[in-house]
Amino acid sequence: MPNEISRRIALLTGGTGGLAQATAERFAAEGITVVIADLDAQRAGEAADALPGDGHRGIGMDVADEASVRAVFEQVESELGPVAVLGCFAGRLSTRSAPGRVLLTELTLDEWEGVNAVNARGTFLCIREMARRRATVPVPHGRIITIASLAGQQGGLAAGAAYSASKGAVLALTKVCARELASQGITVNAIAPGPIDTQMLRSTVPVERAGEKYEHLQGIPLARVGLPGEIAAAVAWLASVDAGFVTGATIDVNGGLYMR
Ligand SMILES: NC(=O)c1ccc[n+]([C@@H]2O[C@H](COP(=O)([O-])OP(=O)(O)OC[C@H]3O[C@@H](n4cnc5c(N)ncnc54)[C@H](O)[C@@H]3O)[C@@H](O)[C@H]2O)c1
Repeated sequence: MPNEISRRIALLTGGTGGLAQATAERFAAEGITVVIADLDAQRAGEAADALPGDGHRGIGMDVADEASVRAVFEQVESELGPVAVLGCFAGRLSTRSAPGRVLLTELTLDEWEGVNAVNARGTFLCIREMARRRATVPVPHGRIITIASLAGQQGGLAAGAAYSASKGAVLALTKVCARELASQGITVNAIAPGPIDTQMLRSTVPVERAGEKYEHLQGIPLARVGLPGEIAAAVAWLASVDAGFVTGATIDVNGGLYMR
């Protein structure tokens, strides 16, 4: 078996987001061919073009839409080859534009459905499509990495019920898929980030209070928010050959905010 993962194809959903972008840069630097899939095809293309190395692609994809997920896998695999690494980064904190936690009593069904459609359904659709394809075209060291959240473990700091429950679903789905795909040699693991400095975290703070941002997070033992590169490092390790005996795990990257 090869002891490195160069010339593998990685598909990153939510690929133009902060955490996926840091991961794309790390993968590209390791020689992996990266497909950046996100809602805005043009932005995805520009992000792919900016990566080091050749052969990266940007593509429009809505993870909540079954046909879109199927079409993207079909296009990627017919043009580049089988996806070996799937990173499920696409996520939505809320369907509202206003920052702040939505209280349970104020949570609309539309908000519940909209958030779960991306975070829970989207993760399911992407993993299922990858699993179906690898059943007929296997790859060595297949890897699926889901991005859950501390919110899915603890009930959320800035996030409400819809987001927290959707991320709890991602954690459970990860374990189910780890069991079912083990016989195909595919590992499935989750990362549970605490607060990481991306647009999603910044959106939890009202613009007029930006100077005091993250004040509600001062209980973090490491006394800072995380950096996207620190998530990328964990994803890169889970995607590596070295992590081949790890499956169904949840890796906490949260500055010590939640210890178990
Ligand atoms: N930043 C944090 O503090 C933090 C903490 C815990 C978990 N997370 C999770 O990490 C993941 C990445 O978040 P981020 O911080 O990079 O946020 P981000 O807002 O920068 O990126 C999210 C990306 O998902 C994309 N997306 C949304 N809906 C989509 C859809 N239907 N189809 C395809 N793409 C879609 C967005 O366009 C965006 O590019 C998310 O799943 C998020 O829930 C983030």
